[in-house]
Amino acid sequence: MPNAKIAGLGFYVPEKVVTNHDLEKVMDTSDEWIQERTGIKERRYAKKFEETPTTMAARAVEIAIERAGITREDIDFIIFATLSPDYYFPGCGVLLQRELGITHTGIGALDIRNQCSGFIYGLSVADQFVRTGMYKNVLLVGSEMHSMGLDFSTRGRAVTVIFGDGAGAAVIQPTEEEGKGILTTKLHSDGTWAEKLAMINPGSHGGYHYRKMGEAVDLGYPDVEYGEAFVTQKMFDDGLFYPQMEGQFVFKLAVQKFPEVIQEALDEVGLTKEDIDMLVPHQANLRISQFVQRRLGLRDDQVWNNIQRYGNTTAASIPIALTEAWEAGKVKEGDLVCLAAFGSGFTWGSALIRW
Ligand code: UT7
Repeated sequence: MPNAKIAGLGFYVPEKVVTNHDLEKVMDTSDEWIQERTGIKERRYAKKFEETPTTMAARAVEIAIERAGITREDIDFIIFATLSPDYYFPGCGVLLQRELGITHTGIGALDIRNQCSGFIYGLSVADQFVRTGMYKNVLLVGSEMHSMGLDFSTRGRAVTVIFGDGAGAAVIQPTEEEGKGILTTKLHSDGTWAEKLAMINPGSHGGYHYRKMGEAVDLGYPDVEYGEAFVTQKMFDDGLFYPQMEGQFVFKLAVQKFPEVIQEALDEVGLTKEDIDMLVPHQANLRISQFVQRRLGLRDDQVWNNIQRYGNTTAASIPIALTEAWEAGKVKEGDLVCLAAFGSGFTWGSALIRW
């Protein structure tokens, strides 16, 4: 069986730069607080009513397919990871197929809902498809438009300041080169704390999950009929359709799971942390990445961080960072590249790639 490799990478971030000082104007926050706690200086916001996760993804894809030496028609499967899709349904995979003008090919499109771990989950799926010979040019994208759904009042500051928009894409192909390509992927989840980092509304939960987590929040359900229960007035009045996060809880688990899942991947292929040439972690928080770097004993130039410029772009963060690292010549032939992510679900995972 051939290994699968990343044959082409691309990314796109919107032009609009939003600095911490810009956010200071609309909510009670400060550049100092944001930089100290997260490392973020600025992030990008998509152009309202023009750009969407799908259109941003298409921009990243154009670059990735050119670098992979293929045309749109050669793509034989699409995997799209996002937590901020254009529509509730259908997913962005088919929208991207249409945006790329390749509906006539009839290829399959799969949507991945694994938040910050979406790209690694998608990479693992692509890896299996390519290794078994089922597909030869899998298009994997992570794209997010957080700006559309954040709470820009002080109430939402702990979440809103972190997130940004952008897209990254990769083409996964088979390689005949011995020992090259994706060596392993490790995927995990634990749904115990699903609501600790979540956007619960609108949804079909009927308030059930809130009760299960011991937080009885009145969503106004007893007063509404079936057809009105998806979005209630109470949700609007109380701002209950914004993402919620227990930051410190997430932080503590993240710094535990990142090193754990990286070590698991290394053990599987018989390598050690000293063998890693470049770590591209999901850009959750610069403090998390620095913690992981210390645990692995890596130098500054062995970890790619760009959260300072783009914020946390969830499913898009790894492909954006990996593309940047590659463009900067930091990912070279023969290098051992490690990807790792942790996020909502909770889900987490890692990948080791011999470039
Ligand atoms: O990518 C998905 C995975 N997500 C993560 O990995 C995120 C992990 N968590 C974190 O990165 C951090 O927990 C945050 C950056 C989200 C928050 O940092 P923290 O040091 O854990 O702050 P905190 O939530 O404990 O809040 C400390 C204080 C609070 O005020 P009091 O109660 O001490 O008076 C907050 O109200 O900071 C306040 N605060 C803010 N102040 C200024 C919260 N957000 C802000 C803000 N500006 N934006």
